[in-house]
Amino acid sequence: MKQILITGAGRGIGEQLAHILSEENKVLVLTRNTSALKKLNHPNLIAEQFDLEKNNVSQLAAEIFKRHQFNPDIVINNAGLLVNKPFEKITRSEMEAVYRVNVFGLMEICQAVIPLLKAGSHIVNIGSMGGFQGSAKFSGLSVYSSSKAAVASFSECLAEELKDKKIAVNCLALGAAQTEMLNEAFPGYKAPVSANEMAAFISDFSLNANQWINGKVIPVSLSTP
Ligand SMILES: NC(=O)c1ccc[n+]([C@@H]2O[C@H](COP(=O)([O-])OP(=O)(O)OC[C@H]3O[C@@H](n4cnc5c(N)ncnc54)[C@H](OP(=O)(O)O)[C@@H]3O)[C@@H](O)[C@H]2O)c1
Repeated sequence: MKQILITGAGRGIGEQLAHILSEENKVLVLTRNTSALKKLNHPNLIAEQFDLEKNNVSQLAAEIFKRHQFNPDIVINNAGLLVNKPFEKITRSEMEAVYRVNVFGLMEICQAVIPLLKAGSHIVNIGSMGGFQGSAKFSGLSVYSSSKAAVASFSECLAEELKDKKIAVNCLALGAAQTEMLNEAFPGYKAPVSANEMAAFISDFSLNANQWINGKVIPVSLSTP
């Protein structure tokens, strides 16, 4: 039984990841809204209320890991915040919120887990096709997509730093999946993949791919925009 950390699992892909992975693994979830997961009352699933926008993310996360004697084998940095607004209208506080969740929060979670990770562990950072170099871009997503480009580059760099410890780091640059985030940003847009289908792919990748893949940014997309 592996120990798996998932960030951002109150809804969307993260919630589906928590369902799938807790079937056969011990899963700790850090997310703002824990109510749906707590209602499940699953013996393999712990949901802790956590806001990645706050200060001291790495210290707060380390305290939670210690309290639960949690030593992750797999970390899925899934939490994400999207603001869809023309660049000229986006405010400094919106930019900061996006970067605090998508970049700084993710980095601080990595800082909290790295001392606990053993050889063979896998960090999976959830990026976006929007942050994948050369992909088609969507108007209104400059701040969100650039934050995901940072996640992609960070993943490559962290893999280099951790390779001697045999800890793999990869970034999945997701294409569109039908979730609340997509519905809110692009009402009426029909994605080719459901949240559950995307979560099934991410689960399998997180459990197995580190044997063959490290330091890569992988587009997870059915089209080549
Ligand atoms: N859906 C797509 O088409 C698509 C495409 C490319 C990339 N992605 C990426 O895939 C990941 C999952 O997206 P999704 O579509 O499932 O989005 P979603 O439905 O909006 O879910 C995002 C999750 O992130 C969590 N989150 C947001 N702000 C947080 C904060 N301050 N602290 C802790 N958790 C926070 C939310 O937690 P709570 O529920 O607890 O509030 C939520 O569970 C994100 O990184 C997203 O950028 C999605």
